[in-house]
Amino acid sequence: MEHRCVLINGDGIGPEVVQAARRMIDAALAPTGSTISWTERHAGVAALEAGHQELLPDETLHAIREQGTALKGPCTTPVGGGFSSVNVALRKRLDLFGAVRPVRSIEGVDTRYTDVDLVVVRENTEGLYAGIENEITPGVVTSLKVATERASTRIARFAFEYAKARNIARVTTLHKANIMKKSDGLFIRCAREIGEREFPEIGYDEIIIDAGCMRLVQDPTEFGVLLCENLYGDVISDLCAGFVGGLGCTPGANFGADHAVFEAVHGSAPDIAGQGVANPLAITMSGVMMLNHLAGVTGDTAVVTAASTLRDAYNAAIASGERTHDLGGTLGTEAFADAVISRYGG
Ligand code: NAI
Repeated sequence: MEHRCVLINGDGIGPEVVQAARRMIDAALAPTGSTISWTERHAGVAALEAGHQELLPDETLHAIREQGTALKGPCTTPVGGGFSSVNVALRKRLDLFGAVRPVRSIEGVDTRYTDVDLVVVRENTEGLYAGIENEITPGVVTSLKVATERASTRIARFAFEYAKARNIARVTTLHKANIMKKSDGLFIRCAREIGEREFPEIGYDEIIIDAGCMRLVQDPTEFGVLLCENLYGDVISDLCAGFVGGLGCTPGANFGADHAVFEAVHGSAPDIAGQGVANPLAITMSGVMMLNHLAGVTGDTAVVTAASTLRDAYNAAIASGERTHDLGGTLGTEAFADAVISRYGG
């Protein structure tokens, strides 16, 4: 079967890791008879450099709407001024309301923890990320935190459905409803109600996020699904990435009702861009999530086979010491991709 997916290189290390991931995915698919026909589109500074007038060109959004699935590299956002985030805009324009970031220990990647297996589920459309900021008077600014019952209920149901489908025993909401009584109060009320009403078989609890961070650092293995509003989900995702080897090892996906965009948790890493040393594992793991998603949407079991081939190969490569610099190894981006591909069928 031929699948159609949009491919967005993005900025910084994006083109390096996305093209390496594409090579690994295509090679894993080759023996199965199924293929992906990639439609390359631009987003971010790369879109301006390619001659577009906008950071998020309409043709990119149109392609994702038409094809339903995209693999996306990171896009740069300037700090403290300049244009607003392309990543946030993309999630909002396509109503990709649910981010999923699986965080799992990887054999051969030494960290302080073993057996971490948790998932961050992040609300992607509201919170302080609504980007509603005002200068009231010089020296006084406000930033509005938005929470709606509709979005809070929708992400709660998504988190419980995710837990149920994967036999995860517990959903934990991280919040600050002791201080933000109305916004975070609404978020936890919706989560609690959905849990009690629709998923009574799944354990549910709530932790104030500061204490939650301490408990996570003490023992991340006690958690299953972490349900977070937008900003907390962003911060917690990077915290959790540190449990399993860092941002080079943490994949992600953004789901809406009709579309899904798969992207790593990491950003464009300008400090190492263009050097050929970035770890392509996170975006490749996102690609494995994409293959499994395509199987769910189309019923094509060949892409599940390719996903297993790819996952087994990168796990075996890392376990035997074939690693990129961020994981203490010596391989560059392309050499790691070669090492993975050489293990197919082995
Ligand atoms: P970052 O994730 O780009 O980098 C943080 C640190 O992790 C850096 O030291 C970097 O070298 C390292 N790192 C990240 N990915 C790596 C990989 N694949 N292999 C090896 N090392 C890796 O975060 P930072 O520096 O805060 O942000 C840089 C830019 O990326 C900013 O403009 C930010 O807005 C953007 N960003 C974009 C995201 C997206 O497109 N979804 C997500 C996060 C940040």
